[in-house]
Amino acid sequence: MTVDDEASAIHGGEHIRGLLSLRDLSVDTIEKIVLRSLQFKKGIKSVRYFDKKMATLFFENSTRTQFSFIAAMINLGIVPVQINTSVSSLMKGENLYDTIKTLECIGYDGVIIRHSSDRYYDELAHGSLEIPIFNAGDGKAEHPTQTLLDLVTIYEEYGHFEDIKVCIVGDISHSRVAHGNAEIMKRLGMDVYISGPNEFMDNTASYIPLDEAVTISDIIMLLRVQYERHKEEMKISEAAYHINYGLTKSRAARMKDSAIIMHPAPVNRQIEIANEVVECTKSRIFAQMKNGVFTRMAVISMVLDGEL
Ligand code: CP
Repeated sequence: MTVDDEASAIHGGEHIRGLLSLRDLSVDTIEKIVLRSLQFKKGIKSVRYFDKKMATLFFENSTRTQFSFIAAMINLGIVPVQINTSVSSLMKGENLYDTIKTLECIGYDGVIIRHSSDRYYDELAHGSLEIPIFNAGDGKAEHPTQTLLDLVTIYEEYGHFEDIKVCIVGDISHSRVAHGNAEIMKRLGMDVYISGPNEFMDNTASYIPLDEAVTISDIIMLLRVQYERHKEEMKISEAAYHINYGLTKSRAARMKDSAIIMHPAPVNRQIEIANEVVECTKSRIFAQMKNGVFTRMAVISMVLDGEL
């Protein structure tokens, strides 16, 4: 046995259980999660766990992700516990690994983490963690359960992914949703485009002007302007953003009859989307939120049952 082998034997290797990134998952597995989510939604599947508790550990604000994970746990019979990071021993300098290891030692069966650093979980991989970790968003990198709930919503609408045209619009460069979604959607055979102000474009997908995108897309997927990640002020005013890059009422009216509007939310009304468009008949924004609960039920149960 080499020193490295011995270290691996002592520390249990680099594998962390749970769901950290969709990049590690096959298309088959992603499709299985989508179908399982819909089984939960339709009541075809029902599971209850006993004597299990899971913690949420959020270093960034959240309404949808944190509370739909909690709703999913309650639906599965799991006791949810919200950790207040500002009064935890993280404030006394305890590192993330030791905090999670502590949760494992005191009997938690999973931890749901949102963190401002891309791939925060890499620093956890060299230890002996056995507790499953569910990534609720890492910096600008990925938001795996948001991507999955988006896929559930798309599958529910169209019944397939192949050749569906999606244009992700807005603050692409600061968005973990854009980065995570584009990668998986391409793998699923979708045609992915991006649009928005030049200052927020990157190489996530091919650029297309918004006025063209609204006429050809099956899905207009809007993003929030993510002020909290900006290093400098946005170059244009919010009013100018809305007129030039927002889904105004007139742009929404030019979308295909069968096309839908998505947004991970929270929504900045009158900036990336007109107030009246948020709940129009094409909008699936609140359907996405509902699907988030079933998607998180699917992910948690598949991890606990060893299917993921
Ligand atoms: N979509 C999303 O992640 O929302 P929250 O930030 O409210 O969790």
